[in-house]
Amino acid sequence: MSPEFSDQTKKKIEEVLSRYPRKEAAILPLLHLTQREFGCISNEEEKIVAEILGIKPIKVREVVSFYTMLNPKPVGKYHIQVCSNLSCFLMEAEELIDYLKEKLGIEPGETTPDKKFTLTTVECLGACDQAPSMMINFDYYGHLDKKKIDELLDKLK
Ligand code: FES
Repeated sequence: MSPEFSDQTKKKIEEVLSRYPRKEAAILPLLHLTQREFGCISNEEEKIVAEILGIKPIKVREVVSFYTMLNPKPVGKYHIQVCSNLSCFLMEAEELIDYLKEKLGIEPGETTPDKKFTLTTVECLGACDQAPSMMINFDYYGHLDKKKIDELLDKLK
């Protein structure tokens, strides 16, 4: 059975669609509402969004796969996204990614068995001046080192 939006989200979708001359232009806000409602945008959700916008599901997939803030599968309570792009790489992000892998016991793209943490490596987060950087859910953290990562994770336990 296909997932269904809540009445509250349906209202928001109508409001968002009314702001654009063409439905397709509302794809990003609609995907954010979808992710907020269902936690991710898997194939089922892609089909629903495509139907609302009157486009093919592959068009929705293209957008979901491009933006790292859109999750094609469920993530844990805390989604840790570590930048592995050039500035962060030069500031030893790889070492921190290895540290997080070891500490959480998972590989990038995986979620801990208790569904608490998902680890993802991503392209530039736009916080190069604070390299190495990462996000946990919607919060940025920069100038990272192992000590700072320990402190951050301890707060989330
Ligand atoms: Fe890591 Fe830009 S390269 S935030």
